[in-house]
Amino acid sequence: MSQQQKKFYEMNRDERLAFLKQSAELTDEDISFFGQPIAFDRANRMVENAVGIMSIPLGIATNFVINGVERLVPMAIEEPSVIAAASKAAKIAKTKGGFTAEAEKSLMIGQVQVVLLSNSIRSGKRKVLAHKKELLAIANSKSKSVSAIGLQVREVKDSSSNRMGRMLVIELIIDTKDAMGANAVNTMCEAIAPKVAEITGGEVVLKILSNYATKRMVKCKAVFDKDQLGGKETVKRILYAYALAHSDVYRAVTHNKGVMNGVDAVALATGQDFRAIEAAAHAWAARDGTYRSLTKWRLTKGGDLVGEIEIPLAVGVVGGVANVHPTAKVALKILGVNNSAQELAMAIAAAGLAQNLAAMRALASEGIQKGHMRLHARNIAVMAGAKGADEVDAVAMKIAEEGQVNVENAREVLSSLRES
Ligand code: MEV
Repeated sequence: MSQQQKKFYEMNRDERLAFLKQSAELTDEDISFFGQPIAFDRANRMVENAVGIMSIPLGIATNFVINGVERLVPMAIEEPSVIAAASKAAKIAKTKGGFTAEAEKSLMIGQVQVVLLSNSIRSGKRKVLAHKKELLAIANSKSKSVSAIGLQVREVKDSSSNRMGRMLVIELIIDTKDAMGANAVNTMCEAIAPKVAEITGGEVVLKILSNYATKRMVKCKAVFDKDQLGGKETVKRILYAYALAHSDVYRAVTHNKGVMNGVDAVALATGQDFRAIEAAAHAWAARDGTYRSLTKWRLTKGGDLVGEIEIPLAVGVVGGVANVHPTAKVALKILGVNNSAQELAMAIAAAGLAQNLAAMRALASEGIQKGHMRLHARNIAVMAGAKGADEVDAVAMKIAEEGQVNVENAREVLSSLRES
């Protein structure tokens, strides 16, 4: 079988790298970053008290077609099955045209909190709005690349038991373009703070971005063929699974964990702040007061399954870790998002939707343990002392077949394999 005819998962590592080199136009230097962790010096500059580097597997999900463009999707994740599952779901979506996505502009919100206003809250609000132009000019003097395009003022009442009273929150709306923008937003908030204090006669406390990026929403949709999903019965069972995720928080959290398996893995591979993404996603999931599924599922007239995800995604392709981490840079190159934060956000949303479909399909049919165990068995085989790919695979296959995926059984299988 020639390399071109092989599926990505059938290739060995060298073949995969050669394929990536060609299809994503990677250089030898790009490829070299895959085999080695970042230099300790770099890690030491990134965080404090550094002692080493924690590594996580990086894989490529295949079959993704997003808005008509084929994309190889890099995923950094330690959990088995996720990359295979995303690729499988993307393959099913591909037969019906792939993923259709849209992303809003990169508008971030920065908050300046004012307490102890000298006059009434209402007059404080009025005064701030009267100085809107001036405040925007101060904010914009801090950056050439991003721009503060709006300002709003909200009154917030303390609802904790501490009764800290009423406060104003001045919110800058900042177009961060292709950056995630945290630094620029925070700098602008800090820059306007003294003027805000002067105008209101109040005390400024917090000056920080909001990670609830509701002005950076991304939508992604795909149709999944009923036959490829396993037929009408499986589709019905998937809809039952979705019904529970929409209606019950205990299921919704697990359902969304599956979505985030896809979202976080692409985010991590491309150097994004996945904690920010997580925090925003879960707040969005609870926007109507009840925590619900981040995805929506329904039938087409023909009985196929349509899935949709809508999620806030503050991601960037310039600045931040994406610019300093060599592997993240290469991952962005593989994804081919052409320096566009929107393109990256759409790919992340597609990975989340694909992952959710794959999990629900497995749960609604054979269950997830079978697939999980097949992959987990390889780790167990290594723990039992199996050496080299052939021995590891042989032991893994046997213990998975026997349904006894544990180290003790793996040791027994290994010793009888070696004896024979
Ligand atoms: C496991 O990492 C994720 C799942 O639990 C998600 C789900 O239950 O939908 C399989």
